[in-house]
Amino acid sequence: MTNQSHTPSTSPTKTTVTVLGLGAMGQALAGAFLEAGHPTTLWNRTPGKGDDLVARGATRAATAAEAVRASDLVVVCLYDYDVSQAVLGPIAADLSGRTLVNLTSDTPERSREAAAWAAGQGIDYLDGAILVPVTVIGTADALLFHSGPKSVYEKHEGTLKALGGNTVHLGEDHGLAAVYDNALLDFFWTSMSGLVHAFALAGADGVKGADLAPYLSALLAIFPESIASTAVEVDSGEYPGEQAPLVTEAANVDHIIHASEHRGLDVESLNGIKSVLDRAIAKGHGTDGWTAVIEAVRAPVPGAAAH
Ligand SMILES: NC(=O)c1ccc[n+]([C@@H]2O[C@H](COP(=O)([O-])OP(=O)(O)OC[C@H]3O[C@@H](n4cnc5c(N)ncnc54)[C@H](OP(=O)(O)O)[C@@H]3O)[C@@H](O)[C@H]2O)c1
Repeated sequence: MTNQSHTPSTSPTKTTVTVLGLGAMGQALAGAFLEAGHPTTLWNRTPGKGDDLVARGATRAATAAEAVRASDLVVVCLYDYDVSQAVLGPIAADLSGRTLVNLTSDTPERSREAAAWAAGQGIDYLDGAILVPVTVIGTADALLFHSGPKSVYEKHEGTLKALGGNTVHLGEDHGLAAVYDNALLDFFWTSMSGLVHAFALAGADGVKGADLAPYLSALLAIFPESIASTAVEVDSGEYPGEQAPLVTEAANVDHIIHASEHRGLDVESLNGIKSVLDRAIAKGHGTDGWTAVIEAVRAPVPGAAAH
């Protein structure tokens, strides 16, 4: 093991932290712990990552077990839960009696499985999810979710806040961080997909991205109000459609599909949207508003799952 001290110096009074996984995110997390003065130990499968962190005072461990034994708090940030379980499984005895926080992204089911495994090994366990890119880690704006026992969260809240000012405990159910993460990224990725398609559609008629961009931004201004009203409608199960009934919106989507097809563009996602709209209308929601599509989303076509 090597340990070189450089600024900012770590403090022996601060909670000791181990970071398992030095991908782009793991390195950012370790850097934030160091910045906050936590004695920080690192491990990564492939050697050679994190030299700058060691130069800043982190300790590099030769094995994951050695890394875990160095700290009270162990933070994991790996590719997915198959990988994190493959790393953690063999070192369960070393983790026993410590707090493990898994900030790897995956599904709520994998989080709950991991929590059940940790409970069986005597490991205090929090699940987590990171909602910001690496450059935002350690800033006041960084949003990170945690779920699991509140007492465990409160014990380490001060240390976890080193990763981001917007660090939230969602509840005792270990799956909640992934529930929120999956839902927010569902919105993000489908929106990003629509954004790219919009640029392709305008671009097919020679409109530059830079010329369309200001109007896309203007459109975004309606989203906070749309999100708030959609939440009310989803929670109440009432979908007022006087101003814009689903049948009218479906015709609008049809126009975009036809224009896209005419320009030789991919229409698979748009056809998917139209198919869900049509099923909502077939279920009697034609005069309801857009939010009524949730009734079709909740009743997918049997056997239509991709995998
Ligand atoms: N990057 C972001 O902006 C961002 C934002 C939010 C959330 N996240 C989440 O953070 C997690 C890590 O992301 P990342 O960007 O750091 O990914 P990454 O740069 O691809 O790093 C992946 C990490 O997993 C390790 N790994 C992969 N397969 C392994 C195996 N079989 N055994 C042991 N270690 C293995 C890699 O080790 P090697 O170096 O040995 O390959 C590396 O440490 C992901 O769940 C991601 O969704 C990332």
